Amino acid sequence: MIEFTNVTKTYAGSDALQAVNMKVESGELFVLVGPSGSGKTTLLKMVNCLNTPSTGTVAIDGVDVSSVNVRKLRQEIGYVLQAGALFPNMTVGENAAVQLLAQGWPEAKRRERVRSLLKQVGLDPDIFMDRMPSELSGGEAQRVGIVRALAVSPKMVLMDEPFSALDPLSRRQLQDLVLRLHKELDTTIIFVTHDMSEALRLADRLAVIHEGVLLQVGTPTEILAEPANDFVASFFDDDAKQRHFLTQVVAAGFGRPVQGGETVLPASATIYDWAALLRDQPDAVVASGKTALAPADLIAFMATLNGGVR
Ligand SMILES: Nc1ncnc2c1ncn2[C@@H]1O[C@H](COP(=O)(O)OP(=O)(O)OP(=O)(O)O)[C@@H](O)[C@H]1O
Ligand SMILES: [Mg+2]
Repeated sequence: MIEFTNVTKTYAGSDALQAVNMKVESGELFVLVGPSGSGKTTLLKMVNCLNTPSTGTVAIDGVDVSSVNVRKLRQEIGYVLQAGALFPNMTVGENAAVQLLAQGWPEAKRRERVRSLLKQVGLDPDIFMDRMPSELSGGEAQRVGIVRALAVSPKMVLMDEPFSALDPLSRRQLQDLVLRLHKELDTTIIFVTHDMSEALRLADRLAVIHEGVLLQVGTPTEILAEPANDFVASFFDDDAKQRHFLTQVVAAGFGRPVQGGETVLPASATIYDWAALLRDQPDAVVASGKTALAPADLIAFMATLNGGVR
């Protein structure tokens, strides 16, 4: 578990973070979402000591990170940055093996590990191992970044807006990759984004941050059902409130035939009516015409809004 306790950060007299209290459970895919300048990177970097709180503490499994050897700490934490964070003078294979090298893995084992991970992220090692970063597309480079972060099987991976420079299709594919790897590897992931649809798509739980203040932490369904304030609500696209009807969720291909036992909502119901129902009955399956919709369908539909892709 990662625990932030009363964390503040002051830069030249102005507060970048104000008394942040937050817990990330082990094995969770936790998403930190907020607009540019809200303090996401500042908070994330405190986990691997690339930044330090002005006051307050960050602890991993009860141990204050400031008391741990920094080198050892960072070896246990994978870190994926925005596009372009590969070393330009090293091949894909060398980039991916940086942390393995630091841990003293012998050459043959490094190659084997990197080749196997490249395959897992859909890059043929025979084609990509010896390429330079300048010979990769944005999406390929980000896959290599993910391989580099995962190579040493870290307990935890920090991802700071890793896909923000990518086109919607690559972005969607890499989100799927993160979801799959998270399931397979049983790693704790903190994923930073300013895109609410990306947050909804990925998160077990998400935290909404604005101007250095943590506004709300919860599952996507909880936050949809009961946004803590207007800012959080508006992050879900204000006009979606008027425009998105259950019938549109059905038209977008979600749901399955009704079986009986669902809560029937009228044809005029919006997704916000549905979210309100989920506040009282988190598992409620609703019926719109002949189609039954589960809470996961609502989240998946929300993820297609705000510029997300289907
Ligand atoms: N080294 C620094 N010195 C002074 N101010 C800083 C420094 N680093 C960040 N800030 C300020 O702290 C605030 C939070 O910055 P941070 O980088 O954490 O935001 P962010 O949420 O990651 O934004 P983005 O989505 O644009 O990456 C901003 O107002 C920023 O200008
Ligand atoms: Mg940032």
